[in-house]
Amino acid sequence: SLATAPLDASRLQVTPISHPSTPKPNDQLVFGKTFTDHMLTVEWTKENGWDAPQIKPYANLSLPPSACVFHYAFELFEGLKAYRTPDNKITMFRPDMNMARMNKSAARICLPTFQSEELVKLMGKLIEQDKHLVPQGQGYSLYIRPTLIGTTAALGVSTPDKALLFVICSPVGPYYKTGFKAVRLEATDYATRAWPGGVGDKKLGANYAPCILPQLQAAERGYQQNLWLFGPEKNITEVGTMNVFFVFQNKATGKKELVTAPLDGTILEGVTRDSVLALAREKLDPNEWEVNERYYSITEVAEKAQKGELLEAFGSGTAAVVSPIKEIGWNGQAIHVPLLPGEQSGPLTKDVAKWIADIQYGKEKHGNWSKV
Ligand code: COI
Repeated sequence: SLATAPLDASRLQVTPISHPSTPKPNDQLVFGKTFTDHMLTVEWTKENGWDAPQIKPYANLSLPPSACVFHYAFELFEGLKAYRTPDNKITMFRPDMNMARMNKSAARICLPTFQSEELVKLMGKLIEQDKHLVPQGQGYSLYIRPTLIGTTAALGVSTPDKALLFVICSPVGPYYKTGFKAVRLEATDYATRAWPGGVGDKKLGANYAPCILPQLQAAERGYQQNLWLFGPEKNITEVGTMNVFFVFQNKATGKKELVTAPLDGTILEGVTRDSVLALAREKLDPNEWEVNERYYSITEVAEKAQKGELLEAFGSGTAAVVSPIKEIGWNGQAIHVPLLPGEQSGPLTKDVAKWIADIQYGKEKHGNWSKV
């Protein structure tokens, strides 16, 4: 077939807003409710490939009701953040990871892939356009939401021949209103988030909607989030919309163990998950610690808790970054996760949160994780 146009940041066309908005005070930022003045859009057709990218005022989209996104869930998204550093630069955290994952999601649902570096450049331009709206201060950042949808106006179920890539940005504070506060989870086996051969490792919108009802059901019983279990073994997979980590004491080796589920296709390949693992492997003394990606079950957690070998648990994700866990409801019992006296997490959870924040806010450098 004839070569079609690649995504090309140098073709960018900018239509600026006439009256730029003033930033909201940090204490008025609710996650994902306020948006910056501009958005990025790029249209794609099978015939011609990627059109010239546009930065233009944030506005409603216009789509035919027949567009395949509305019928067959041709939709995927990403979430990443930009941070203001002490020297007042704005950096994106590991955008290459999000772009790689976005392309994998696109390939899985037959939406067009694109040149990752070009979208990173375009997101840089979009942030630059509204840089006065990037909040300052610990816990505050610009949440970036790249999205790709199929726009073919036809009800036949087939490969989209038209698509729209867009990026919107939201100045944000802590994901939970309560900030860094330990949460209670309900171990959930009556609903399944993802399964072998499925798409749980892709960031498809279709993975998220079905998880709200179980969350409401857990909330009725007093829990903030679901701890998603899988299979007859009741393996622990994820928590809410985040990856999850546990810390155990291994009596046999005398070491502590940081553990999370392996990337077997049912686990979202979290950028924060990857960062936690990388930092733990770099910073923790191997004479005292094991860092493992392995299967582990709610039964193992319950048994370890009984024996005093459950030390910590936390969720990891872009939005909340690190979210400590204090209790898990399972089989009518409460599994208690210890916290530091008078604090909202255990010691490793606290260290991990600081390691990551220091890199995100540019107080520490880590390889090429921060992209100016
Ligand atoms: C995350 O960043 O943890 C998420 O996936 C949440 C997002 C869907 C708002």
